[in-house]
Amino acid sequence: MTEAGAGELDSLRLFFALWPDDATRTALDHTGKWLHQYWGGRRMRADTLHLTLAFLGNTPVAQLDALVACINTIQSAAFKLILDQPGYWRHNRIGWLGPSQPPLALGELVSAVNEAVQKAGINLDARPHVPHVTLLRNTAGGTFPVCESVNWPVREFVLVSSRADADGAYYEVLRRWPLG
Ligand code: 2AM
Repeated sequence: MTEAGAGELDSLRLFFALWPDDATRTALDHTGKWLHQYWGGRRMRADTLHLTLAFLGNTPVAQLDALVACINTIQSAAFKLILDQPGYWRHNRIGWLGPSQPPLALGELVSAVNEAVQKAGINLDARPHVPHVTLLRNTAGGTFPVCESVNWPVREFVLVSSRADADGAYYEVLRRWPLG
């Protein structure tokens, strides 16, 4: 891998994600502000907002070329994603926004990415994928307000490297793949 991000590290904490365009990011951030009024907690910084497709965790940099080669074989279509459903997970105190009706194309993309990752010899979390954009952390949740939907025209997916420090998570997009 020659692009930014691989640096001199032996391994990177990686995930594949949908990364919002500017308008969608602004709308998601707006919804985060709105949900925060009801549920409190810590709002995610706008630049970190995303929807995870597959979480790889720590991955040796030596495996990146094989991973990218497998992902390059994916042929998936662009689609519209309507995020209209706030959600709360008590176990990790996350407040999120997701689709009440996930489009078929999203499920197909998640499956394609999972298969490609496994083909590259990388193990994935076996838990079922729940599409969500984390908006709040360390929140108490509450009753579910009716929210305005965010309409996301999904035209690409990305590979992201994540690192955490005392101020929170920092994400770097390493590669982008357009959707047809
Ligand atoms: P979260 O927002 O619900 O915490 C980077 O950490 C991204 O990967 C986040 O979207 C995070 O989801 C997700 N993630 C972190 N650990 C994960 C795991 N073990 N399984 C699935 N997704 C994970």
